[in-house]
Amino acid sequence: MKINIINGPNLNLLGKREPSVYGNKSFDLFFNDLKVRFSSIDLECFQSNIEGEIIDHIHQIGFSSDGIVLNAAAYTHTSIGIADAIKSINSPVVEVHISNTFSREDFRHHSFITPNAKGLILGFGLESYALAIQSFIK
Ligand code: DQA
Repeated sequence: MKINIINGPNLNLLGKREPSVYGNKSFDLFFNDLKVRFSSIDLECFQSNIEGEIIDHIHQIGFSSDGIVLNAAAYTHTSIGIADAIKSINSPVVEVHISNTFSREDFRHHSFITPNAKGLILGFGLESYALAIQSFIK
């Protein structure tokens, strides 16, 4: 089983960025933990700060991946391009957020991703990613 994690802008700074919201752990360290926890799954992770690169990556993996865990970060609230990319592929997408976006600013309450996602997991810190992976395991 192949699961692809896609992280959007500023998530390369996890561990350094607003630790009171996003925690102290870098995604690289957390990803190592995930690979141990889900050792039977072929897990891959891609991060970009550039909207078009995220769209290109969705096109590349979206017809072969068994599941995409997508944290589009700030593009969640702005990107019709990423929303359309999700509509265009066959692989199921679970939207993930580290923070509870509904307990934050109003502009974080709207997501262009959710209508086209299989489901949404948010507010559990980095553990949101593990819950999303778990959701793909039958
Ligand atoms: C985020 C929430 C977004 O509103 C924000 O722009 C992010 C991270 C989260 O994981 O909580 O960059 O997607």
